[in-house]
Amino acid sequence: MYVCVCHGISEKRLSQAVLEGAQSFEQLQSCTGVATCCGACEPCARQVLVETLDSKPRSPQAA
Ligand code: FES
Repeated sequence: MYVCVCHGISEKRLSQAVLEGAQSFEQLQSCTGVATCCGACEPCARQVLVETLDSKPRSPQAA
């Protein structure tokens, strides 16, 4: 399912970017370009960010 229609970014692409290291909405924006056009996808993109961070396995060092 597409989150960002302007840039054709799917939910899967966003969660992949989070798993690859994006930890804030700003980082997600800079690595995927999400919500940098009309901004309508921002709430949905933020939700994917939070949900992916929550489900992401934490490294032992970060605990
Ligand atoms: S839908 Fe994502 S910036 Fe427009």
